[in-house]
Amino acid sequence: MIDQYDKLAPYYRDYVQKKTKYLLTIDRLIIQNLSGNPQSLLDVGSGDGTRGITLAKKLRIKKVYLCDPSAEMIKKCRQLKPTRAIQSGAENLAINDKFDTTLCLWNVLGHIKTRKRRIAALKNMKNCLEPGGKLFLDIQNRHNANAYGGLKTLGRLILDTFFPNDQRGNTHFIWKIKNQQFPGRGHLFTAEEIQGIIRESGLKIKKRYIVNYESGKIEKFFWQGQLLYVISNE
Ligand SMILES: C[S@@+](CC[C@H](N)C(=O)[O-])C[C@H]1O[C@@H](n2cnc3c(N)ncnc32)[C@H](O)[C@@H]1O
Repeated sequence: MIDQYDKLAPYYRDYVQKKTKYLLTIDRLIIQNLSGNPQSLLDVGSGDGTRGITLAKKLRIKKVYLCDPSAEMIKKCRQLKPTRAIQSGAENLAINDKFDTTLCLWNVLGHIKTRKRRIAALKNMKNCLEPGGKLFLDIQNRHNANAYGGLKTLGRLILDTFFPNDQRGNTHFIWKIKNQQFPGRGHLFTAEEIQGIIRESGLKIKKRYIVNYESGKIEKFFWQGQLLYVISNE
């Protein structure tokens, strides 16, 4: 899964363009939830770093750590001159420092292979959070009918309600960017699954938003969008 992002890195800005409305809504919600003069930011699975650095600038945060396992993404992060750029997967993250704001955005958790490793990743983020700090996490919702189709989602809902099995969320896809095809894989979460993982990591959900993956509109029902969680350690 790291390899797919090494290949995608030169085209990452084009890839981002495909979901601008969604990403901008998430960024706006992050800023809205950070009213108390944040001082430090850790971006876990930062991609090329543009998003973390842009948010930090808007929030006037000076201490910014970017972290991603992809060597090509980390090269791009270094060009933006963060306080530190660390090449590491979230599940192996060993940072001896604390932050009041942590980001884990755009289904980074869905690129970590197992439930056990996803929990390890969140525990590492928890260890880096100052007391009362905030972690922003958004994931792809397997039950998002607007993104994946009504009938398909209904089938998934029935299966997942009566025969729950996390493995069903594993998926393969092809990114099409500039006439090129990039095969990728990842994981789509159910709301119950991700909320269980957050709880098992010892973190607490403060708020949940449902955001339309196409229009960026904030929706009312869980089957209408991807899920953004505002999480804290207390
Ligand atoms: C869709 S991109 C999102 C990047 C960035 N958060 C953003 O919002 O633009 C997913 C990122 O997760 C990273 N990733 C893959 N496996 C990871 C892992 N085990 N731990 C942390 N990040 C990982 C990829 O290298 C990639 O940069």
